[in-house]
Amino acid sequence: MKGIVLAGGSGTRMYPLTKSISKQLLGVYDKPAIYYPLSILMLADVREIALIVNPHEREAFQELLGDGQQYGVSFEYLVQEQPRGIADAYNVSEDFLEGSSSMMILGDNFFYGYELPKRIRLAKEKNIGATVFAMQVKNPQRFGVLDIKSPDQVPVGIYEKPQNPPSNWAVTGLYIFDGNAPKYTKNFKPSDRGELEITDLISQYLKENKLAVEYLGRGTAWLDTGTPDGMLGCATFVKTVEERQGFKIACLEEIACRRDLISTTKMLEQVNNYPDCPYKDYILDVLEGGL
Ligand code: DAU
Repeated sequence: MKGIVLAGGSGTRMYPLTKSISKQLLGVYDKPAIYYPLSILMLADVREIALIVNPHEREAFQELLGDGQQYGVSFEYLVQEQPRGIADAYNVSEDFLEGSSSMMILGDNFFYGYELPKRIRLAKEKNIGATVFAMQVKNPQRFGVLDIKSPDQVPVGIYEKPQNPPSNWAVTGLYIFDGNAPKYTKNFKPSDRGELEITDLISQYLKENKLAVEYLGRGTAWLDTGTPDGMLGCATFVKTVEERQGFKIACLEEIACRRDLISTTKMLEQVNNYPDCPYKDYILDVLEGGL
């Protein structure tokens, strides 16, 4: 399975913060926002990852993340010329995917929770069409929302930002699709708001009875970094947890070693070349302490 991080978009909601830099490159507490969604794909053992970016931001992403070798994975940068919508990711990445299934995460999404990586890895193994991860929210009007039939929580519909939400179960920005996704999105037409909607792609799988929903419980934190308030909330959350536990959230070097994507010896060699800073000290401490 290949991975996609959708990190394009116009970023207008965060202007002027995003006038000269992508919102996914802005800092969220002690690391760039993009590290958080990227960490989820790495924790799910997805090794071949495409980052979809805006034409003028490609270089900056590449400078930050390189080709991924330093984490034992590979990064490719694909350009989305215009923010045509989330489902457009599958038009942009068709050649990269070469028919493979994929796990896609939105560049402004943040996930944290006990045993969440394990749950995502299991969902990845059993995926038979599409899998979405749903969470209950207070303001479903802002999200893709599931219509669910009780008592077995069977999904019967999905709607993008509905005025009258059929439930409070929002579809988060983490998706798994089989290799057919680009075949479908190719024929999509823009919605009333001018975008190729991810909910249309999910509906397609629902119609074919090939949609699985992973309902995430209240012990999972799902936040987003796509607005100034979201960013601040997320930064505060990360700071609070990191200070309490002494462990960092989304330290890509640590994850690469813990998931055996790269050897600890190799990582130590690399990290020794980092400038002196608390981030370096942290990695050395964790790696030298034995994982
Ligand atoms: O966060 C979950 C929600 O994400 C889902 O519940 C919705 O169904 C889904 O449509 C999406 O809604 P948003 O309104 O939050 O999406 P937004 O336009 O903010 O885009 C999310 C990310 O995708 C953001 O990091 C920018 C990137 N993006 C977006 C568009 C439209 C692109 O890279 N290209 C695009 O064309």
